[in-house]
Amino acid sequence: MSRMADRSYPSAQDPWLAVPEPWRVKSVEPIHLIPPELREEAIGRAGYNMFRLRSEDVFVDLLTDSGTAAMSAGQWAGLQTGDEAYAGARTWYDLERAVQQVTGFAHVIPVHQGRGAETVYCRAFVDQGDLVLGNLHFDTTRAHIRNRGGIPVDLVIEEGLDPDSLHPFKGNVDLDRAEKVVLDNPGKVRLFILTVTSNTNGGQPVSLENARAVSTFCRRHGIRLLVDAARFAENAFLIREREAGQHGRTVPEIARELFSLADGAAMSAKKDALVNIGGFLAFRTEADYEACRRWAVLYEGYLTYGGMAGRDLEAVARGLAEGTDPDYLAARIRQVRLLHSLLADAAVPLVRPPGGHSVVVDAARYLEHLPRSRFPAEALAAALYVLAGIRSVGLGGLAFGERDPETGKLSLPPWECLRLAIPRRVYTDNHIAYVAGALAELWAKREGIPGLLPVEVPDHLPHFTASFRPQ
Ligand code: F0G
Repeated sequence: MSRMADRSYPSAQDPWLAVPEPWRVKSVEPIHLIPPELREEAIGRAGYNMFRLRSEDVFVDLLTDSGTAAMSAGQWAGLQTGDEAYAGARTWYDLERAVQQVTGFAHVIPVHQGRGAETVYCRAFVDQGDLVLGNLHFDTTRAHIRNRGGIPVDLVIEEGLDPDSLHPFKGNVDLDRAEKVVLDNPGKVRLFILTVTSNTNGGQPVSLENARAVSTFCRRHGIRLLVDAARFAENAFLIREREAGQHGRTVPEIARELFSLADGAAMSAKKDALVNIGGFLAFRTEADYEACRRWAVLYEGYLTYGGMAGRDLEAVARGLAEGTDPDYLAARIRQVRLLHSLLADAAVPLVRPPGGHSVVVDAARYLEHLPRSRFPAEALAAALYVLAGIRSVGLGGLAFGERDPETGKLSLPPWECLRLAIPRRVYTDNHIAYVAGALAELWAKREGIPGLLPVEVPDHLPHFTASFRPQ
């Protein structure tokens, strides 16, 4: 139990600033703010695409919270003990045990990262023409479903897409819509992916009550339920804080109940397991494990390393436990909220409430003068980089637009946002204040921010490689 058990879960009235980080810095990595003219040059070279910038040209990097965590002294020490045997490594058994303990699932398959898990489970469980239901599928999940000829269907509640709704669980599933999809498509729905937290709308949690209802629904219709558990600990923390009757439970207890509702889980360990690389699949039944096993060997490597080095297995095993520590989670989520409240004070349009891992700026409202054909999310990201060397990422039409394979017609998502993802245990509150200050300054001169014109926008996952020029 936490030393700070009561203080680390403040109520809405309790100032979050009272919870300091439960760690001290042992090693630092210098970062530099290169001069404005070099930033202009760098963004031009990168085709105004944040993914194409060199990390050395970035000062504060909020591109993603994935694989960017600072590992603990314990994790670094664990790396030294890595067993690099091809098969049966000791550190594999450490990881298997850690996953079994956290999820309650008996059968574990290691993979090199989240999309390794997606490759495997989509190969095993998605066929041509299948509808794959979910709250809000993330871009890579979506692409893997499409790659198998399946159709991703998002069923998040209406409030989940309303930036102003203060619903506490904006990752929840609308079960009436789910029911309708199943009844309208007999035999076509065999898989449901519940993503906790929901990354696509900024890390919004799913309630236990909703997860229980999803579980009942899936059982009733014979649908396999997988949890995309990339941010399961942050989700459990937010359940503990916000859901009636959950305050007295621990994060691991809540997480175990969530997993108990599903048939299995896929995890990119690069998020809540606090590592730079790694992931796993875990299943309740041997049959599901068997269905994935051969594809895992084919795509990811042998079943006791799954694309990871033996030392990485140990870092994930240790990180899984650290990632559910209540003091760590309280400090981490407090920092995300600090950025949100500083930006809200500056009247920057935001998705509310803040999620578990990121703050999401409503780019459509921020850059009202730009139509979607001028890529407001990416234009804002570019302007923020040029002003302050801060890297963020657009989550909007470019990342989530989908072209109908038959008609070629592009359908855009209802949101056009800029995500500021906060790496875990990496930046101080001074960095956060710097980011808030830059976005507030930019807000004052927003009308001068130019839109972007496409130079090259590929059809497949375009946001990673597209290039632009300013209008
Ligand atoms: N599922 C979710 C919910 C994710 O957020 C991600 C990655 C993946 C699966 C894929 O995992 O990167 O390890 O292959 N999200 C990152 C992000 C890339 O920036 O949000 P991966």
